[in-house]
Amino acid sequence: MKIDVKAASITDVKCDLLVVNIFEGLKVPGGATAVIDKKLNGSIVRLIKSGEITGKLAEVNVIHTQGKLPATQVLVVGLGKSSEFEVDKIRIVASAAMAEAKKIKAKNVATIVHGAGAGGITLPNAAQALVEGILIGSYKYDGFAKVKDDSYFKVESVTLVELQKAKVKSIEAGVRLGRLIGESVNNARDLVNGPANKITPTFLAARAAKIAGIKVKVFGLNEANKIGMHSYTSVAKGSKEPAKFIVMQYGQGKPEIALVGKGVTFDAGGISLKPSRKLWEMKTDMSGAAAVLETMRLISHLKIRKNIVGILPCCENMPDGEAQKPGDVISSLSGKTIEIISTDAEGRMVMADAITYAKKMGVKKIIDVATLTGACVSALGDAASGIMGNSQMLVNELIAAGKTAGEKLWQLPLLEEYKDYSKSEIADVKNCTEQGMAGPSIGGLFLKLFVEDTSWAHIDIAGTAYLGKGRGYLSTGATGVMVRTLTSYLMQ
Ligand code: BES
Ligand code: ZN
Ligand code: ZN
Repeated sequence: MKIDVKAASITDVKCDLLVVNIFEGLKVPGGATAVIDKKLNGSIVRLIKSGEITGKLAEVNVIHTQGKLPATQVLVVGLGKSSEFEVDKIRIVASAAMAEAKKIKAKNVATIVHGAGAGGITLPNAAQALVEGILIGSYKYDGFAKVKDDSYFKVESVTLVELQKAKVKSIEAGVRLGRLIGESVNNARDLVNGPANKITPTFLAARAAKIAGIKVKVFGLNEANKIGMHSYTSVAKGSKEPAKFIVMQYGQGKPEIALVGKGVTFDAGGISLKPSRKLWEMKTDMSGAAAVLETMRLISHLKIRKNIVGILPCCENMPDGEAQKPGDVISSLSGKTIEIISTDAEGRMVMADAITYAKKMGVKKIIDVATLTGACVSALGDAASGIMGNSQMLVNELIAAGKTAGEKLWQLPLLEEYKDYSKSEIADVKNCTEQGMAGPSIGGLFLKLFVEDTSWAHIDIAGTAYLGKGRGYLSTGATGVMVRTLTSYLMQ
């Protein structure tokens, strides 16, 4: 999609659809909307009076201009209550406008930068959120269907219109950032929506290797075994699909920050086989890896001045004659031995070795992202990711980064009292408990044993990586969650 910025009066812009806005409860529009209303001989004010335009968040009303403006149609989108306005509303509004544009098959759209005027958001921030909303909101997974219906209609161009020439540069800066972020989020969604027979560890490794400005090392099963990553390989060995442990390095010096993403490209549960209902959804068990991979792409494009390593332990978790069994004891890169209680608690096993690998590289901070526990879905649903860690400062910073990025993170505790749940009779630790309490925390506490005293935060995205039903600017399916939060955090 072409997105550009133009210094012009909105009354002069030729397009199929011109987007203006209104706050809820206003009787008389202001700014650009007032200018358009005047050209339309007071149509907008009349529609407010008649109650058709209320300004409720994401409400859309289309008016035919019938030659009164160079634009063929005008869309008035609701910004909601001005007292509740914040940056994420811009994404919601942009997405609602794009959905309407698609519905009426408007190829060329022009829009004002919502939120920058009466909304009180800085111009570059508003432009960035607008473009994120446009790109994330109009995403559709292309898929493999041979027959494409109307839902595949694509808006060709969006022009952000600003009257004052002096402001164009700062809008353009926001557009550039918003475009990079929006594209990365959508790339991550493509990886997560993609079927497990196509989005294999090998595919992810090839994708990582293509990113400019990143050094990539890939270990196969044999190499990973030689290094001593048996916690990872004991999961991987149960599948014929070749495993890939991917290390992506950005920056000149020694990495300070590690981003670790769970890359289980299909989680059948292993010998502790999952029930078949919704099993196909387990193709999304590499959402953490997808988020880290795309965040690495972003930081390379943005030339962030930090040394960062992305670690993606990728493999399938399958039942097979060579698969690990409940009751097995394996060693890990850390030296700790692990008793397998459930082969379905494989995420923490591949993550444990990836975390130790990061520690051996000498990083000061570890942020891990994983679809780790079904219990996190029960606890928080799909609107917030679970976050826990040993550094309250890092947790706070990530929650704050999520707020600007439009992704909610909710802290869960790592209670001392539950430490004993990881104790095994025959090994240093066991990979899970059988009583099924405090699932996200038990998962987090297991990882903590491998993190030790390195500053660390763990983000459980089991509920947020994939929406069974779309909401706001996110459609049903993969969300690309954490690309925005991680990028916003790393940009500070
Ligand atoms: N990949 C799953 C977690 C998951 C569940 C992600 C639902 C997305 C949606 C993970 O590997 C898993 O199976 N965890 C087990 C842990 C248990 C055996 C301690 C779970 O949640 O049941
Ligand atoms: Zn599992
Ligand atoms: Zn899993």
